[in-house]
Formats: sequence, C-alpha cells, structure tokens
Amino acid sequence: MKTIIEPFRIKTTEPIKIISRKEREKALEKAHENVFLLDAEDCCIDLLTDSGTGAMSTRQWAAMMLGDESYAGSRSWKHFESTVQSITGIRHVLPTHQGRAAEAILTQTLIKKGDVIPNNSHFDTTRANIEYVGGIAENLLCEQGLDTADQSPFKGNMDIEKLEQCIAGYGRERIPFAMITVTNNSGGGQPVSMANIRAVKEVLDRHAIPLIIDACRFAENAYFIHEREKGYAGKSLLEISREMFSLADGATMSCKKDGLANIGGFLICNNDEWAEKFKNLLIIREGFPTYGGLAGRDLEAISVGLMEALEYDYQVYRQATVRYLSQKLVDMGVPIVRPAGGHAVFLDARKMLPDLPVLHYPGIGVINALYLEGGVRGVELGSVMFGRFDDQGREHPAPLELVRLAFPRRVYTQSHFDYLGEIIEEVWKNRGKIPGYRITYQSPFLRHFTCHFEKLAS
Ligand code: F0G
Repeated sequence: MKTIIEPFRIKTTEPIKIISRKEREKALEKAHENVFLLDAEDCCIDLLTDSGTGAMSTRQWAAMMLGDESYAGSRSWKHFESTVQSITGIRHVLPTHQGRAAEAILTQTLIKKGDVIPNNSHFDTTRANIEYVGGIAENLLCEQGLDTADQSPFKGNMDIEKLEQCIAGYGRERIPFAMITVTNNSGGGQPVSMANIRAVKEVLDRHAIPLIIDACRFAENAYFIHEREKGYAGKSLLEISREMFSLADGATMSCKKDGLANIGGFLICNNDEWAEKFKNLLIIREGFPTYGGLAGRDLEAISVGLMEALEYDYQVYRQATVRYLSQKLVDMGVPIVRPAGGHAVFLDARKMLPDLPVLHYPGIGVINALYLEGGVRGVELGSVMFGRFDDQGREHPAPLELVRLAFPRRVYTQSHFDYLGEIIEEVWKNRGKIPGYRITYQSPFLRHFTCHFEKLAS
C-alpha cells in the first residue's frame, strides 16, 4: 500500500519557534508547572487540544467572505441551519458560541437539583455544567473502555446493564435526559457503535427518557462505524451520521472539533417545548437565535467545515496520522490506549510510572516531562481533571491516568509526528527521573485549567 498523504497542499504557513531547554524550564516554572498557563508561543508542537485549533480550507475562507452579518435572519444563518438539519435530521437548531454554551443552556433548562444524567463518559465541561445546577453526572462506560490494553473496536460504548441499574436505582423521575458522547473523549477518543446507540435508545424509550448526543466528534465516530461495524462499509459518512442522529432527541455540539472551525457550537432538539425554553435562555446568554454568539462569517465557515469533516478521504488521512504515531509508540513499548482513538493518542501515565502514587499525579509528571524535553504540550486526563472529593473532603482518583496528545485538524505534517515520536522516546527512556506533583492552588470547578503545582522530591 502507498503512503497515505495529506489530502491538501499548504497555502499559508505560520512559523513555530523552538526555545531552548533552559528557557522551557523557566517558562514552566513561571506557569506554576501547569502547561495550561504557558504562552502558546513557547510550545513548538501544541497538542493541548484538537478544539478550535484546526486549519481551515480554501473553501471555508472563501465562504467567510460571503458571511452575512445581519442581526436577524441572515443568509449565513439559513446556510448553517439547513446544513445542520441535513446532517442530523433534527428540527430546531440553536447556534451557540461553543459546545459548553449549548451544555449550559441544556442543563440550566432541564435539570433540577438532585437529577441524574447518565453518559458513557461526561467530558469535563459537561460534568461541570451538570454539577453547577445541582445534578449528578454518572459515567456508565463499558468495562472494555476502562482497560487501556483491550483491543475492542467500540470501547466508547455505554454499558447497557449499568444504564438499566442506574434508571432502576435513581428512578426515572430523576433522569430528565441521558447523554452519549461520540467519540468518547475522556476515555481515549474511542468510538461508540451504532448498535450501542440503538440499544441505549431502546432502554431509554422504555422509560420515556430522551437521549442527547454529545456530538463534538460525530464525523470521526461515523468513520469508525464505517470501518469497523458490520453493514456500514457501503454507506457514506453522511448517511451514517444521519442514522446516529435519528436515534437522538437532541444534541450538543462543539463546532471547534468536527465543524473544522475555530469557534462555534450548537444545541439541537426535536421537542417544541424544549426549543422554546432553550431559545429564551439563548437570547439572554448568547444572542438572537439566528446568530447565537457567532458572526455570520463563523456560521459560513462551520457550514462548510461540517461537510468537509464528512469527506471520507479526509477521515482516512486523519486516522492515518493517529495510527502512525500510535504504531511508533507501540513499537517502543510505550503503554498507550489501544486501539488508537479518533482525535488523539493517549499515553497511559499510570503504567508509564507505576511506582508513583496516583494522587501524585503521574499524568502531570509525563506532561511536564514532554514539555521540558521538546516543547510538546499535551493535557492530563486523569485525577487532576476527573478526580473527585467526597463529603469529608477526601480526594478520590480518576479510574485512568491518561495523557492526551490531541491532534489539531490539518495542522501538523509527518515530520512533526516523527519529531514527536523522538521526544516521547526520550521521555520514556528517562521515565525513572519523572517526579510527582502536588497542588498548591485550585478552584472549585475545572481546577485543571488554573491550578498551581509543586514538584515533589523524589
Ligand atoms: N464535549 C466534549 C466531548 C468535548 O470534548 C468538549 C470540548 C466539549 C463538550 C465542550 O466543547 O470546548 O466547544 O465548549 N473539548 C475540548 C477538548 C475542550 O480539549 O477536548 P467546547
């Protein structure tokens, strides 16, 4: 088989600078050992997130020039609405400035204190939005999803048994809706099968509980269904997406992922009553319902981007980049989540540093070592992001200590990934020297963004 090449040429470049190790040490110290607090310019390969960091196509830039900036009923809104409807088949479309704004409107409208929201795995902002209004966010991921070495094709699936138990345990009245996140970002970007979404919907239907899809990476999920699920090889990614959304009553979306845009999101639903309530809050928080916090040009860029994300060749290339790096790491013996997920490579920091106590945050150790070694910035998806405090204020670790290297869309080339492989190899060889960390400052919600760390003596 021939090399899978980037299905695009580069027309505009953005310089990156590589600062010295000494400068990186200084920068990290100034950032209180938290890579979120670094200047982006000091990170030569920035894999903090795949969110809003992608490169737009010539078609998107051209569409931006067509942006209609009218306050109400703009042409760009019509384009956006019809694109979202054609992909999802869902009637009411509310644009938001990003995914968490859609989550905030959903949760603040539908959740009462003490309500429970099941999901395969809640992303941090979803969980924070639920907890902010007094709800309980339950993760019901299948067992395979918790085993980083398991090679099952759909490790993002929800455990149907656990869903039944959750409904029986809390009672249907406490569950205003359930969610399913495609792909499962928190658990390694693993896909959810169509069969699983259908099974979840069947259980929920029996109890008259609506299903909301967290659709940030719906196109990547559709690609995995196409490749791995029986009966879908002959369908287009658009057809697969339509089928996924046909099983949902609504969805939240961050267009910063599979919208291939730098900003944007939406909230969609079929329920007229919900739509009315969402709209009222949208107007207060985001803007008039035909722009929702976005410029007309953003609506245009997203409309084109959503369709580009569903192009098969684009997904083939994207997944080839993830596999390229994963295979290098597997060959080196670095423990990673397998099979490779859709938008990132996830290192298993607990397995990399088995002697470090989990509450000394092995993920932060690996993240900081990657930065110091080569200016690579990743993000911890472990106990700092997902740990919990109980009523007595005791800290409980997350089930997994992962380090996510998320791939911005259409940004880095093969030589960047080769360099990345070299940096990870160096960190892996010197893993015995990686220290643990403790937190010296934290905020009550989403602490990972702003907390300060201190290195522990080894
Ligand atoms: N849901 C999922 C599954 C996400 O991954 C994100 C964002 C959101 C919701 C919220 O969307 O950022 O537009 O408000 N994830 C980014 C990440 C931030 O790095 O994984 P947003």
